[in-house]
Amino acid sequence: MSRRIIPVHPFDYVVFGATGDLAKRKLIPALYYRFKDGQFDEKSRIIGVSRTVWTDAEFQKVARDSITEFVEPEYQDKKTIDRFVSILSYVSNDVTNPENWTDLAEKLRDDPKIVRAFYLAVAPNLFGPICEYLSKKGYYRRDARVVLEKPLGHDLESSEAINNEVASIFKEDQVYRIDHYLGKETVQNLLALRFANKLFEPIWNSANIDHVQITVSESVGAGTRGYYDESGALRDMIQNHIMQLVCLVAMEPPASDEANALRDEKLKVLRSLKPIKGADVAKYTVRGQYRGVTSETTSVKGYQDELPADKKGSRTETFVALKAEIENWRWAGVPFYLRTGKRMANRVSEIVIQFRDIPHSIFEHAEGAPKANKLVIRLQPDEGVKLFLMIKDPGPGGMRLREVPLNLSFAQTFAERTPEAYERLLLDVVRGSQTLFMRRDELEAAWKWVDPIREAWDASRDAPQPYTAGTWGPTGSIALIERDGRTWHEDDDA
Ligand code: BG6
Repeated sequence: MSRRIIPVHPFDYVVFGATGDLAKRKLIPALYYRFKDGQFDEKSRIIGVSRTVWTDAEFQKVARDSITEFVEPEYQDKKTIDRFVSILSYVSNDVTNPENWTDLAEKLRDDPKIVRAFYLAVAPNLFGPICEYLSKKGYYRRDARVVLEKPLGHDLESSEAINNEVASIFKEDQVYRIDHYLGKETVQNLLALRFANKLFEPIWNSANIDHVQITVSESVGAGTRGYYDESGALRDMIQNHIMQLVCLVAMEPPASDEANALRDEKLKVLRSLKPIKGADVAKYTVRGQYRGVTSETTSVKGYQDELPADKKGSRTETFVALKAEIENWRWAGVPFYLRTGKRMANRVSEIVIQFRDIPHSIFEHAEGAPKANKLVIRLQPDEGVKLFLMIKDPGPGGMRLREVPLNLSFAQTFAERTPEAYERLLLDVVRGSQTLFMRRDELEAAWKWVDPIREAWDASRDAPQPYTAGTWGPTGSIALIERDGRTWHEDDDA
């Protein structure tokens, strides 16, 4: 089936932080892909803003380089790249100094039919000054949109402060808080899987599900990223991406896919999470930090070795595993085991729904006992869904039971390239669709749940548990789940 392209209204997209890594790696390539697919054309404009003094031509050159580096070669063609960069322009603007606020006026168009969006890919302490600037200079419009990139605070209090600053200018229906996990195709597929099929919903509850596992493991390290040491895995991954995945797995069916219908249901999940506080933190959470490893074939630095001299001795966690519980009728007694880390054995993001055992086995004389069914939703890489079922091993030799996956591989089923999360999200802003963005109350509910964990860790004398780079994390993570008579899922296909 060919892909359906729905063109968007012409827009002026103003990207603050245009010289940064996110713009280079994600935003420019994502916009290019959408342009190449014909979702918008030269009637739209992209205006980069940053402190660096650049001309339009310099910005366009950087954009060309980022397309060369980050766009798949078969999507790169000179004519389209020329057309794309022709809609890019640049304003150098130090928003920390009102004296230096250069005028965006000559770049922004007055036509009310042209969608106006401001993307703040800058440190959150600049959100306030930028909003003030936009308002003072008259760039604010009631239908303009503002997009906020993480980190949206480092705890509830700081997040409230950021949201208040933004809210002093923009109304909530104009604010688009990015969690790029929500833009991933497979994450949206979770909604289709749950709510476009009759099969799963009747058994999506504690009567049939034993537990849920969510793993987001990465093989890259983190010590060279300045921001990471201030953040750690809890703030960097659990508070946002993994909490959002928990919400999509656990929420009640919303009445529609309208933004607030969906976000109301997600919020209820966040508010039903059992708090993990005080002494429970040591019981239900594990934090780790990777150590280097040297062998004949590899040499990988540990987190501490990657840090600059003034950060040595840091107790920032590069791994977290925890056991969460949702206190409502659907999920009472069903643990959600969550884990994420850097420098782990593999890069994989997946959700495992482990069903309960069958109530009674009739296969008394069979070889191999029936194993409980399992649904594995693989978000990346090798996106797809596997439903592990028991079958009879074919052939003579008596009844032999075997577990095999019913395998829906997206790469094999769909010929098209899977779009990057930012492609969807950037244009949803233009369309005015907030469904895949976090509402303020959701964000704050997530901080409220995460803060006591952080506080207990900070107060504890224990350091994060060490784990060797290239492994599945510290032994404490294995103990956390094995204590309950369960194991982390490892995909061996059988
Ligand atoms: C970001 C985190 O939000 O998500 C990074 O700050 C992390 O630390 C990244 O590497 C993971 O995203 P993805 O799309 O590669 O899974």
